[in-house]
Amino acid sequence: MNHSNNKRETFSSGLAVFFATLGSAVGLGNIWKFPYMVGENGGGAFVLIYFICVLLVGIPVAVSEFYIGRSTRKNAVGAFDVLKAKPFWKSIGYMGVLSALFIMFFYSNVAGWVFSYVFKAIKGDFLSLASLSMEEAAVNVSSQFDIAVGGSVSPFVWQVIAVAIVSIIIIAGVKKGIERITKTLLPLLFILIIICCIRALTLEGAAQGLNFLFRPDFSKLSASAVLSALGLAFFKLSLGMGTMITYGSYFTEKDNLFATSARVALSDSLVSLLAGTAIFPVVFTFGMEPGAGPGLLFKTIPLVFSKIPFGNLLLVAFFILTSIAATTAMLSLVEVPVAFFIEEKNMSRNKAVLLTSGMILLIGLLTVHPKSVFGNVVIAGKGFFDLFDYLSSNIMLPIGGLLISIFVGYIANKNDLSNELSNHGTLDNKGMTKFFINVLRYLTPALLVIVFLNSIGIIKF
Ligand code: TRP
Repeated sequence: MNHSNNKRETFSSGLAVFFATLGSAVGLGNIWKFPYMVGENGGGAFVLIYFICVLLVGIPVAVSEFYIGRSTRKNAVGAFDVLKAKPFWKSIGYMGVLSALFIMFFYSNVAGWVFSYVFKAIKGDFLSLASLSMEEAAVNVSSQFDIAVGGSVSPFVWQVIAVAIVSIIIIAGVKKGIERITKTLLPLLFILIIICCIRALTLEGAAQGLNFLFRPDFSKLSASAVLSALGLAFFKLSLGMGTMITYGSYFTEKDNLFATSARVALSDSLVSLLAGTAIFPVVFTFGMEPGAGPGLLFKTIPLVFSKIPFGNLLLVAFFILTSIAATTAMLSLVEVPVAFFIEEKNMSRNKAVLLTSGMILLIGLLTVHPKSVFGNVVIAGKGFFDLFDYLSSNIMLPIGGLLISIFVGYIANKNDLSNELSNHGTLDNKGMTKFFINVLRYLTPALLVIVFLNSIGIIKF
């Protein structure tokens, strides 16, 4: 296959577009990050702010990225050439390639933890929980987590395995790789999370858990929590770094860009809420700390299934499906540099994938692991894991989102934009488009700037 064929590849149908995009959005962000951030930031009020960010910032930026991608059918850097934009705007794409790597450094690390949990569950490491008391079980699960991620060899090995699996799928290409995997497995994940929720809701602490998740208590909300909610909205919907530009470039001509964005945002939020519903009842039933941080998922889910028939089987299935969600999200991260290297640097797909995964492993392994050479380096009070997470989610993605909304709101050709959003006149959505442009010009950038300045302390409410 030559390069020009490669970049002209598209998803095969509207349904495939929906699942691939949802496959990018749904990932460790919903199952791992959302619950622990809600826990750390005090619950319901954070959830509410998060949804406001999705609605007023996330969806408009998603539509903008889809427009840039589909109208140019190019990678995140090359797209701006086709749009005849000044070279400055290409920095969105370059920053995106860099953000993809930054995110992959820690994301593939956590994916490695999830993979290792599939193995642990199959080996029966959690079978003994059934005979322990609640408190003993909670302590046991916590210490298993600390041992699993604190090892000096095995977390490295699992991270390498995670990156290798992603590389193999992505070498297969857009249709045969990304599309096939997402379409079959996402519905299964959805069903399994619902089973988790049903079980969690039968626990003693269910009401307390739901209260924590759904009842806003604004006294617990800090300015930095608002920036984190915004960062999470970007992270969750894979925005601000060109993933949705790149995926948009594989959309079919018939996809309705507004409807796709709304459907993806809605389904993705539902998965996050379901994950929260599965986890917080456990936290309150077993007397755990909601603000337990990145280990929360791993310290709670084994307890959900610990005392029910076929519990271990369900646990294995849960971690398998979470690995799949993590994998489909990683595909979309890795695809950004890969598409860039193929189209802008004339590399073959294989070479682009090898180069990208090579960088992820080399820098990721060296800098992210506490047991690595740079394990004890602390910059601005953060180790490398937190630093890459903070820089990408709270700084780079929102800046990318701001630039994208300014570009589409002010610079892009408005006829071209309405033409693309209405699928060349076949959709009757003039009113919607006008509303969208206004939101994108005034509301989205204003919110981004205010939240940002507030969080770094330049303005104070
Ligand atoms: N959205 C994914 C998740 O929630 C992660 C992800 C995939 C991502 N592609 C991205 C985050 C691009 C930011 C940018 O797990």
